[in-house]
Amino acid sequence: MSVRELFDTMGYGPAPEGDAPVRQWIAQHGGRFGHYIGGQWIAATELFEVTEPATGAPLARVAQGTAADIDAAVVAARAALPAWQALDDHARARWLYAIARGIQKHARAFAVLESLDNGKPIRETRDIDIPLVVRHFYHHAGWAQLLEREFPGHHAYGVVGQVIPWNFPLLMLAWKVAPALAAGNTVVLKPAEFTPLTAIRFAELVHEIGLPPGVFNLVTGDGRTGAALVAHEDVDKIAFTGSTEVGRAIRVATAGSGKGLSLELGGKSPFMVFEDADLDSVVEGVVDAIWFNQGQVCCAGARLLIQEGVADRLLDKLRDRMEQLRVGAPLDKGVDMGAIVAPVQLERIRQLCATGVAEGATCWQPSWCVPAHGSFHPPTLFTNVAPSATIAQVEIFGPVLVSMTFRTPEEAVALANNTPFGLAASVWSENINLALDVAPKLKCGVVWINSTNLFDAAAGFGGYRESGFGREGGREGMWEYLQPVRAHEAAPLPVIGEGAMPDAGSDAERDDPSAPAMPPIDRTAKLFIGGKQARPDSGYSRTVRSLRGVAVGEVGEGNRKDLRNAVEAAQAAAGWSTLTGHQRAQILYYIAENLSARADEFAMRIVSMTGDARAAGEIEVAAAISRLFSYAAWADKHDGAVHDVPLRGVALAMHEPIGVVGVACPDPYPLLGLVSLLGPLLATGNRVVAVPSERFPLAATDFYSVLETSDLPGGVVNLVTGSRDALIRTLADHDGVEAVWYFGSHTGATAVETASAANLKRTWTEWSGREWLDPRTGEGREFLRRAVQVKNIWIPYGE
Ligand code: NAI
Repeated sequence: MSVRELFDTMGYGPAPEGDAPVRQWIAQHGGRFGHYIGGQWIAATELFEVTEPATGAPLARVAQGTAADIDAAVVAARAALPAWQALDDHARARWLYAIARGIQKHARAFAVLESLDNGKPIRETRDIDIPLVVRHFYHHAGWAQLLEREFPGHHAYGVVGQVIPWNFPLLMLAWKVAPALAAGNTVVLKPAEFTPLTAIRFAELVHEIGLPPGVFNLVTGDGRTGAALVAHEDVDKIAFTGSTEVGRAIRVATAGSGKGLSLELGGKSPFMVFEDADLDSVVEGVVDAIWFNQGQVCCAGARLLIQEGVADRLLDKLRDRMEQLRVGAPLDKGVDMGAIVAPVQLERIRQLCATGVAEGATCWQPSWCVPAHGSFHPPTLFTNVAPSATIAQVEIFGPVLVSMTFRTPEEAVALANNTPFGLAASVWSENINLALDVAPKLKCGVVWINSTNLFDAAAGFGGYRESGFGREGGREGMWEYLQPVRAHEAAPLPVIGEGAMPDAGSDAERDDPSAPAMPPIDRTAKLFIGGKQARPDSGYSRTVRSLRGVAVGEVGEGNRKDLRNAVEAAQAAAGWSTLTGHQRAQILYYIAENLSARADEFAMRIVSMTGDARAAGEIEVAAAISRLFSYAAWADKHDGAVHDVPLRGVALAMHEPIGVVGVACPDPYPLLGLVSLLGPLLATGNRVVAVPSERFPLAATDFYSVLETSDLPGGVVNLVTGSRDALIRTLADHDGVEAVWYFGSHTGATAVETASAANLKRTWTEWSGREWLDPRTGEGREFLRRAVQVKNIWIPYGE
């Protein structure tokens, strides 16, 4: 070939990375691997085969974990816990640091092993996966060092069960194991069955560096092994990354167990291109968004939304670029895309593409062919896609891009939010005002402006809606592995009124003997929906009795229809979420002021229901006023953060309201309980449908007249009285409710968590006692954190 031809074609040959050391490592183990439990390798009777996606050839045989293996690993993790927690922060930091160093020293071996096992290009494992793994362990060595100072009053969950997927095997391990260990937990990890090898090599590494036995345990196997880990009674928290379907099953399996849960699930993320975007940068962005890791990325920019005026130009450029992509052997340093992880996944991608064509979309693929052997799929572009088409809605998890057009930014936002998912979004525009206007309107946990697929250990990552809940990375991620000391030590909640016999009632309850012999004017407590008092749809009322059984009033018996109206009213009150913290604070202060003006009346009302001494009623009202002041104070102080990520630019961690939240209030402290839950939710911009204390609802129904006079916009707070567990269950089932807070019985909590799986709403359930009067436990950041979700907005800058 002449020099001229060379310049014309710019062709280049293969540049294979050697794999001999890694294959030797596999051979040294006889090609078989067991579990790593309690610091020892445990041989298994049943093994399964792990293959190389690029060739289909067998790589190794790995143990299929049984329930007994999981049990042994949990026992080992439990046994290791006291000593691991007794270490001082610095000592735990040293272990994490040692792990980071260990991986760094063997970085190339990990990268090659990952490419062989997963099929992803060495270019990615070498330059992205493994460096990020190392970064995670270093970053979390830092959190371990600072644990007590940065997270006072909190401690580790205990034994954490972690189940991870196959798309970023070692990176997902790092995202889970590093924060768990840094926070003082011990771990049982179940890697994905397609890709267990780097986790096995990791276990070997922690063994080599001498991590105390039982602190990290590895049990390999398929979904059955994962399910056994999820079901194990002695696991305190489950962290899962994988499909939404399995995430949902795990939500149901853990309902009512008291286990902590974080879920990082699927996505169908939009990649939004406005007409003033730099289209050449956009093309490279698209390559990184959807062809990175063969598109097997939960946050892949899988839906290309283009402003109409530039659509044709961009699609032409994109097709040109696709013609140049190289798909081939993952260990070739010159390939852009490697193999799909397994034939079953390849088949799924092919079927979804066929569905796309059958539904009328236009499929375009480059002229060249992918290797015939192994699981390869060409980069694929669909145009003429309807927003409701299967390929526009379902996570394809492959190198398949679907494109649609929009005219206005409003239309772009509507299209972007038009899936049940909410993991990430990319926004491309040279107009930063436009980009920053759009970012908060997107229902997702991460927004990349003029960039895509940026990750760092210092920035949280995680979804909204059916993309799951919980964050990984940074301070946000650390909270997922910590809990307040209080929750650990609380006694079960005494059931108020149980066994109490009706008697003549207290002085406050008895009829006034001087009253005229006429029936009093009936003051019927109604429901409070959309800022108005509303009669219950059922036409029924229920009698409220004091602790001693004396009738002290009546409230409406709310039903499904009332709740539907209340949710609609709350949805319509979206303007509350866009007010400033200062404006919300003003209204919270006003509510406190109006409550204060009627303090005596409220105190007497509480006393009439609970039969407590008058002083107790007064103390409760005073505490409720103070609580409103606290949340008014916090309304403009629950700041987000600017993360220090390795980027010329910033990553803004914004606190956003969750949306419409259903709340079931506790029976003790009927006024303070309600105010303690409304306060943080309102301060952070949520709208609420609350079921007041079922036993003592009258303080809440009196409270709506305070709300009416306090400039609170209609629909921001809705109060529906009646059967707590039946009503909250309806709210947990309702797709328009985005989170549920439940303070009641264990049975009720289980029902709420089970029902929440349908649209994966966030839940906070408690059935043990909480000291509502004490500001250390009755209010604070714990409540505020639960009331928001964090959106990380990455903004690179510079020309
Ligand atoms: P998957 O969700 O079944 O597997 C993820 C992990 O969960 C694996 O370790 C698996 O063994 C485990 N698992 C499976 N069933 C379980 C159960 N009942 N209890 C506990 N653990 C269980 O994902 P799969 O089948 O490998 O991939 C199917 C689809 O899921 C993909 O096409 C993609 O759409 C999506 N997916 C999304 C991921 C993400 O990061 N968002 C990662 C992997 C898959």
